[in-house]
Amino acid sequence: MYDFALNPDLPAEERYRELTQMALALTEGEEDPIANMANVAALISECVPKLNWAGFYRATNGKSGPELVLGPFIGRPACIRIEWGAGVCGTAAASGATQRVEDVHAFPGHIACDAASRSELVVPIFKDGAVIGVLDLDSPEPGRFAPQDAAGFEALVDAISDRIAG
Ligand code: SME
Repeated sequence: MYDFALNPDLPAEERYRELTQMALALTEGEEDPIANMANVAALISECVPKLNWAGFYRATNGKSGPELVLGPFIGRPACIRIEWGAGVCGTAAASGATQRVEDVHAFPGHIACDAASRSELVVPIFKDGAVIGVLDLDSPEPGRFAPQDAAGFEALVDAISDRIAG
């Protein structure tokens, strides 16, 4: 049994350092990327407050070019395929830049999967310089994600990218 808990009173930097250590411990010695993404999504959902969706989209070759396909997540059922460059996730994948969206209704082309989502953080995941997927986090609270959250999740996905690349 795993029993992870994160002290919410720690400063953000420390909190994300701990969360990254937990993700590394949880994926240690396991080579299956789906199992690792599933457990990391569950870990984030359990340890990070005020989220209504946490999970992965994986880069794949679609019929008309690169696209994102739904991976392991915790939350409501979500759209399965996202065109490269479309929505918040596709923008993060195509640009290779983290998208920190304070108000999803103000993001042109935002794809709504859960009507409760008000803000969103999408972090691209790199392996050998190429985007292999994104980590997508939604919150029912507007402006939920601060720059420290973006930096913390960037470090987390960087630490585990080898273990979720498949
Ligand atoms: N909102 C995302 C789509 C994925 S769901 O939030 C799970 C987007 O605009 O790309």
